[in-house]
Amino acid sequence: MELSQKNILITGGNSGIGLSLARQLSALGNSLIVVSRSQKNWSEFSRFRSAVVTMQCDISKQQEVLSLVEKLESSNITLDILINSAAVQHTGRLTDGAFSFTDIGTEVDTNFTSIVRLCSLLLGGLLSRPRSAIVNLSSGLAFYPKTSSAVYCATKAALHSFSQSLRYQLAGTPVQVTEVILPLVSTPMTEGRGSGKMSPDAAAEAIIKGLKNGRTEIYVGKARLLPVMMRLWPGFVKRMLKKY
Ligand SMILES: NC(=O)c1ccc[n+]([C@@H]2O[C@H](COP(=O)([O-])OP(=O)(O)OC[C@H]3O[C@@H](n4cnc5c(N)ncnc54)[C@H](OP(=O)(O)O)[C@@H]3O)[C@@H](O)[C@H]2O)c1
Repeated sequence: MELSQKNILITGGNSGIGLSLARQLSALGNSLIVVSRSQKNWSEFSRFRSAVVTMQCDISKQQEVLSLVEKLESSNITLDILINSAAVQHTGRLTDGAFSFTDIGTEVDTNFTSIVRLCSLLLGGLLSRPRSAIVNLSSGLAFYPKTSSAVYCATKAALHSFSQSLRYQLAGTPVQVTEVILPLVSTPMTEGRGSGKMSPDAAAEAIIKGLKNGRTEIYVGKARLLPVMMRLWPGFVKRMLKKY
């Protein structure tokens, strides 16, 4: 896939992997629409090579997603690529009362429901382009959940399943559905956790390379070992992640 002069919407494009993707995609000459709740790092976009439109939106809220799509339509922006990077991860155990009633809904709606809603609302525009893509940022945790982030892992498993079904539905159309399976990356989401983390810039580079090569599943960094581990030592990976 050509990755220049495209209109690309990135949810969560103001932090972590989303911000690195925004930087690199802008350097390639793409126009960006960055969506986030806060205005964190927005000042950086003025130094980008290409045009960046910022839109404040809490994607966990159905009404705000509808308004976002209306704003795109009224601005006559037709997307070529939708990158679903925004997500939240709560850690803790249900048994310790670490998850409030609201937190559970917000996590599911941010990480999963919003993506289904955005795909369904933006699909018409994506189908009208000669070549377009939906890119969902997922995780090795979609296949092997860890102990401490049960809701997060479940949303990524749901995203994996949804990405596959949507890919089947869109076979033979211009829309490519790509799932990105990431390892542990050094971002605000993982601050204070884990070691040997990949940099967000390196993760973004690998994602862009995979998209250019037309990959529908992009295993990044250490996550490239997953398909082999799943086949040869599924019990080992399961035991390893259960510790976290
Ligand atoms: N980091 C890792 O190790 C890792 C591993 C596997 C998969 N991933 C996945 O990679 C993606 C990016 O993660 P990251 O580590 O780069 O995270 P991050 O640095 O924490 O960034 C999360 C982004 O999501 C936005 N966001 C959160 N809730 C939102 C909402 N309700 N509405 C709109 N925007 C919202 C945040 O902006 P505001 O706070 O301003 O809204 C922020 O831009 C996520 O899908 C994550 O699950 C990450």
